Amino acid sequence: MKALDRIAVEGGTPLEGTVRVHGAKNAALPILAATLLAEGVCVVEDVPDLQDIRVMVDILRALGASVDYSPPVVRVDARRISRTEVPEELMRQMRSSIFLMGPLLARYCHARVSRPGGCTIGSRPIDLHLKGLAALGASIDEVHGYIDCQTRRLHGAAIYLDTPSVGATENLMMAAVLAEGTTVIGNAAREPEIVDLANFLNRLGARVEGAGEDTLVISGVQGLIGGRYAIIPDRIVAGTLAIAVSMTGGDVTLENVRPNHLGAVLTKLREGGVEIETGRDIMRVRSDGKLRAVEQVRTAPYPGFPTDLQAPFMALLSVAPGMSIVAETVFEERFKHVSELCRMGANIRVDLRTAFVQGVPRLTGAVVQASDLRAGAALVLAGLVAEGTTVVEQAHHIDRGYQQFDEMLRGLGARVRRLSQS
Ligand code: EPZ
Repeated sequence: MKALDRIAVEGGTPLEGTVRVHGAKNAALPILAATLLAEGVCVVEDVPDLQDIRVMVDILRALGASVDYSPPVVRVDARRISRTEVPEELMRQMRSSIFLMGPLLARYCHARVSRPGGCTIGSRPIDLHLKGLAALGASIDEVHGYIDCQTRRLHGAAIYLDTPSVGATENLMMAAVLAEGTTVIGNAAREPEIVDLANFLNRLGARVEGAGEDTLVISGVQGLIGGRYAIIPDRIVAGTLAIAVSMTGGDVTLENVRPNHLGAVLTKLREGGVEIETGRDIMRVRSDGKLRAVEQVRTAPYPGFPTDLQAPFMALLSVAPGMSIVAETVFEERFKHVSELCRMGANIRVDLRTAFVQGVPRLTGAVVQASDLRAGAALVLAGLVAEGTTVVEQAHHIDRGYQQFDEMLRGLGARVRRLSQS
């Protein structure tokens, strides 16, 4: 049976109705890695059914943990694992598995991983991860593309991150919870997913303070127990859906969402003329589809505008009359969606890491390629407002971060369907 790796979109239908936002991929992944630290069984709830999660489950099993995965619940028993080397073929499928180094080193005093390469959005170095682990007392050896780390026991340290890297903050936080003494991480990342990981670790008996601020203080403990934990909703999925209805026009209520995690995004949508009402865990988005250009969107670490919503927001700006400027400051190659949007009639000029988006009255359907997860979602959104049919190829990228994206949109009235490989 040919893979259903293309998504066809008929444009022109306003979105209406209610949708529940699933759990956050970028919280679930480090939290599943952190289960390796526990001397008891961990049950993690509201875990989305995604390709990346399946890879993480395969990695935990390959290390010798017993894992029951019945979405949205994952039960992990990592009390006894048999190896501390992450299989290369799994590492290649998901570069963020680099943050398994922290928990393996902290609990088993050894970790061996293959160096993750770059990806379509940038070179993605891991120097901050390695520098931080060395400061915590790990000896790091790199041969033939493998990174081999060991320690007798990690110890507390004062670490300052040159840039507030999400992955490095998570990796070092997980390493430090079982270290001897206190660790201070300065210029730490402040994303909601960092706070969720810290809350999970504290639920297991860790002592992490300051999560969500730029300085983290972690007092090492002897050991962690098991526990049950429900992860936060996915703010990037919620943002993508809010942008979709803003473009198509319509009236959509998002349930299981944290509007306070989307401050920068909601500000820009309101600047664009969208009506948004929020409650503690609910959000109503109304639009007549007649948008205004937004002077500037500049991506930045949280609480700035999320780089993961840059591509979907650019799809919106491509049909907002006037000139909008988009500056991508986090990743150096995250404009791969621009040429595909231009195939659909958008008018976008790129100069290094800035895109100048001249809104056009309409887009037209075309066959386009998804180069990565968020670029793929942006092309589906463009298809929702384009005349005729858009076919997004390489749709497997989208499945890495959106659980049944086509079904979610069809539930709101969109004319979207899966097609098999051509
Ligand atoms: C996380 O990636 C997310 N992934 C990304 O989401 C997200 O785009 C990114 O954070 C930024 O918000 C997961 O959580 C699994 P970083 P991560 O380390 O941790 C530089 C998606 O679409 N850097 O915060 O890899 C790096 O080059 C994905 O869901 C170093 O220089 O991102 C980049 O410019 C894509 N040295 C910047 O920091 C290092 O050692 C931010 O990267 C590490 C990072």
